[in-house]
Amino acid sequence: MERSLILLKPDCVQRRLIGKIIARFEEKAINIVAMKMIQVTPDLSKQHYAEHVEKPFYGGLEEFITGAPVVAMVLEGLEVIRVVRDMLGATNGLKAAAGTIRGDFSSSRQMNLVHASDSPESATREINLYFKESELCPYEPTLTPWLKAGDE
Ligand code: CMP
Repeated sequence: MERSLILLKPDCVQRRLIGKIIARFEEKAINIVAMKMIQVTPDLSKQHYAEHVEKPFYGGLEEFITGAPVVAMVLEGLEVIRVVRDMLGATNGLKAAAGTIRGDFSSSRQMNLVHASDSPESATREINLYFKESELCPYEPTLTPWLKAGDE
């Protein structure tokens, strides 16, 4: 079982797409084990995007991610890090395949609606940035026997 940190970014909140995007994860039967709306500060942005701070686009990225609230979530499931990134599609919405979240709703490289952790190490680091352990609510879905075979 894996966990991944997901952010529904300011463009997702402003465009009233939160419900549609959460529905995609629910329809895929992924467990949401934590969720909250927060305002990202410049300091949190620099910690989250530490690997991009020196890049030329970082200034615009910080302005964007701090420009309106985000919805932070922890998703849990088998191979959830890869599964969610496949559901999002390519970083640039113009290049993302039709049928993916970005392919269907985004036409931008920066305003690509959703962030998702890209590795188990990033997931652990990012979950700890946004959530305290006490804010996570893992649970066993009653639907499990109808979602996969016992040996999967
Ligand atoms: P995300 O998955 O949140 O990780 C880093 C973010 O930086 C990325 O989504 C985009 O929103 C943004 N980004 C990546 N590359 C560029 C770029 N070349 N120019 C502007 N923004 C970018």
